[in-house]
Amino acid sequence: MSGLVLCSRLIDIHELGDERGMLAVIESNINVPFETKRIFYIYGTAEGVRRGFHAHRKTRQALVCVSGTCKVFLDNIERKTDVTLDSPTKVLILEPNDWHEMYDFSPNCVLLVLASHLYDPEDYIRDYHQFLEVYGSE
Ligand code: TYD
Repeated sequence: MSGLVLCSRLIDIHELGDERGMLAVIESNINVPFETKRIFYIYGTAEGVRRGFHAHRKTRQALVCVSGTCKVFLDNIERKTDVTLDSPTKVLILEPNDWHEMYDFSPNCVLLVLASHLYDPEDYIRDYHQFLEVYGSE
């Protein structure tokens, strides 16, 4: 990548609810800024586990805890932050250059992830030194 440094951001999506319960909607290119090609979810995470430890070359992602809570450590070289996902209406947009690690999963956590690309192991940067090489000079 070159030029623009892309930054992660938290989006609050509207909660639609009535006496029957709640409903939240994520629509590609409307409240998440990409076309969703893949959906996966992380659940049943063992206590104390930290996972992720990678960035991407192309893939953008939207993360939301549809149940329970977890935290996400983010590093885009310019900035290191920790974000708490504790609501089904709080969506974290990750750019390809966001090194991310997820941790502090509650036992009931279901972390839903929408991704802009199909799964491709070549799109992953799992080595932190390589991450610095790829994104460090922007
Ligand atoms: P992994 O990338 O290790 O998870 P995390 O980064 O959250 O620690 O993924 C676990 C396994 O699932 C690994 O073998 C790759 C595989 N996988 C797919 O086959 N397709 C996918 O869309 C994802 C996200 C993972």
